[in-house]
Amino acid sequence: MNILVTGGAGYVGSAAARWLIASGHRVTVLDDLSLGHRAALPSDGVLHVGRIDDRQAVLRALEAGACETVLHFAASSCVGESVQQPRRYWSNNVAGSLALLETLIDAGVEQLVFSSTCAIYGEASDAPLTESTPAAPGSPYAFTKYAIERMIADLSHAHGLRYALLRYFNAAGASPDGAHGEDHDPETHLIPIVLQTLLGRRDRLTLFGEDYPTPDGTCVRDYVHVDDLARAHELALDWTAARREPGGEVFNLGTGRGHSVREVIRAAESVTGRRVPCEVGARRAGDSARLVAQARRARDVLGWSVEYADLERTVATAWAWHEAHPDGYASPV
Ligand code: UFG
Repeated sequence: MNILVTGGAGYVGSAAARWLIASGHRVTVLDDLSLGHRAALPSDGVLHVGRIDDRQAVLRALEAGACETVLHFAASSCVGESVQQPRRYWSNNVAGSLALLETLIDAGVEQLVFSSTCAIYGEASDAPLTESTPAAPGSPYAFTKYAIERMIADLSHAHGLRYALLRYFNAAGASPDGAHGEDHDPETHLIPIVLQTLLGRRDRLTLFGEDYPTPDGTCVRDYVHVDDLARAHELALDWTAARREPGGEVFNLGTGRGHSVREVIRAAESVTGRRVPCEVGARRAGDSARLVAQARRARDVLGWSVEYADLERTVATAWAWHEAHPDGYASPV
């Protein structure tokens, strides 16, 4: 397939782009490099630097790659930041996606896979979350992702798009060859912060709240390896391409296992043999107590399964990347 990947220089987007290239697909990336990294992609001209709301940039990228289908990752994606800067999220995510979709529809693109999030479920019960668990977004970030899901469904109805909405749980880990991993600036995600603390790049980890209604009082998340997510995109592309009718589905992508913040710290300590200096701080605005997937639909409909079911194995891949790249992609090679 000829695939346009928006936000394809970011953490999950680049993992999907590399995966698809390795599987023999023709990939064209559109990324404005505001958050992404050129070095996250092969250096053979797949990258077009541009914004999703720049109609000409999108058209040029579509044409350069003769793209018939699109993976849409480009977004601002930090829960805490979205509470402080909601305008940025509504503008980049919602207005940006609307502009992109208008261009894609006008250009005759009929297939789309969208990078959504489990944050849409908000505060939920102890049961694993299914796609029919009612949405209850708890942050501007989550609301914008939910709004885009709805936008895609509405535009599909009117314009005949075929689509898959992939709700990731917490993307984690790095490529098994140690060459590509998570590098955000500023870094806000738990596993990289834990590992940077273990490398001595930070004094300590601040644990955001231990008074949640969970077994050890810290938030529980479902950490899914980034290459498992990447493979799900290939399956979702196949599924969308094979659909006869316009319309689409939502798919949860997670391991089905929840781990608390304290369990993540213990996993990192076990992988590295070092202790994480840690202090307990206040809750972070927008955080949910527990987000764990039930991903049966992805298994039954897409044929997806998780290769990295064990948290320590996922953390070990992240550790290999961080140890070799203490400054992320800016590290000397
Ligand atoms: N945490 C800490 N200390 C830190 C960083 C994080 O205690 O320094 C805690 C958080 O409070 C949370 C857990 O670790 O309980 C995981 O936090 P992350 O920031 O790593 O990830 P989120 O759970 O916030 O992830 C959410 C959504 C994802 C979404 C992501 C985008 O669940 O679907 O935000 O950033 F993609």
